Amino acid sequence: MNTTKTEGINYAGSKLKLIPYIMEMVSELRGIDTVLDGFSGSTRVSQALALNGFEVTSNDISDWSEVFGNCYLKANQSDSYYKSLIEHLNGLNGYEGWFTTHYGGSVTDSKKPFRIHNTMKLDVIREEIDRLNLSFEDKCVALTSLIQALDRVDNTLGHYAAYLSKWSVRSAKEMQLKVPAIVRSGKNHKVIKGDIFDTVAQHSFDLAYLDPPYGSNNEKMPPSRIRYAAYYHLWTTIIRNDKPEIFGKVNRRSDTRDGLSASVFEEFRKNKNGDFIAMDALRKLIQQTNARYIVLSYSSGGRATQEQLLHIISENAKLIDVKKIDYRKNIMSTLRSTNEWISNDEKHQEYIFLMEKI
Ligand SMILES: C[S@@+](CC[C@H](N)C(=O)[O-])C[C@H]1O[C@@H](n2cnc3c(N)ncnc32)[C@H](O)[C@@H]1O
Repeated sequence: MNTTKTEGINYAGSKLKLIPYIMEMVSELRGIDTVLDGFSGSTRVSQALALNGFEVTSNDISDWSEVFGNCYLKANQSDSYYKSLIEHLNGLNGYEGWFTTHYGGSVTDSKKPFRIHNTMKLDVIREEIDRLNLSFEDKCVALTSLIQALDRVDNTLGHYAAYLSKWSVRSAKEMQLKVPAIVRSGKNHKVIKGDIFDTVAQHSFDLAYLDPPYGSNNEKMPPSRIRYAAYYHLWTTIIRNDKPEIFGKVNRRSDTRDGLSASVFEEFRKNKNGDFIAMDALRKLIQQTNARYIVLSYSSGGRATQEQLLHIISENAKLIDVKKIDYRKNIMSTLRSTNEWISNDEKHQEYIFLMEKI
């Protein structure tokens, strides 16, 4: 299995390190061709699946995932076409525009996501991408390249809900766009920007990989802390180039304010019956997913209690395999019985469940 060539931004909950284990699990199954990556995020798992010959549907509610998915899975111009596009964008002279006003900081004025020399580049490149009138897929290649270049010179801890008070070393560098490593597998991949429930209602797959937001077991945590729209507001703004109304210390889009929950999986509250709303959503999702096999990612820092999760799985599916991965120790183990899993209450382990729908 080919698991090495994916690209992506720093992304909370990215499954980059899990890709070899997910691929190993999937490769042991027979008769799998169409695969849904239901919460595709950075699209690293989608890229790995496509690189391994599967026909992939990449689905997520975010604008950025749609852009990355179209870049890696759908773009179809030649490498030399993209090379000259990216060279052209790299060669433009920056100016102080809207992004510099709101997100650029001087050497002495930190607590901004980027240094001014990079936001000036952002200002000119973003305007040029619109002016070039590219096809949607080619625009996605340019935007992916721009976002990844910015991500390499950021002044954050991996999200844009807070900026570092002392400039990171990388933020001083000149950002450079690179040609993305487009997956050219010849399959008819699909990219959907949508709610997972709409997607599973309209399509069926041989296998679905589900990696919903982690949530948190801390009920006092405001939803904004674990909301992707708030973490990556700047990518949305760069993609839409809509100069939105912004608020707060980090200049977030006002459509990502705390009260607004973008996704039921990011809900931290309980329903009338005392069940976590996010867990109830997971139960419905497993029920409604039209796929013979489901692979589910779960982190032990997440919202489910282990017994609850096993119960939800057993209601609609037969559990075939559970893998536990300890990132820090780089150890993977296959759990032979569910008791082994339940009795284990270590924090921050990653689990992958393989189940067959009944
Ligand atoms: C844990 S991340 C997925 C990470 C991804 N597997 C990767 O490796 O980058 C969860 C993703 O779910 C998306 N999301 C949240 N609610 C959703 C929904 N109702 N439908 C589809 N996507 C959703 C978020 O935008 C986020 O990208």
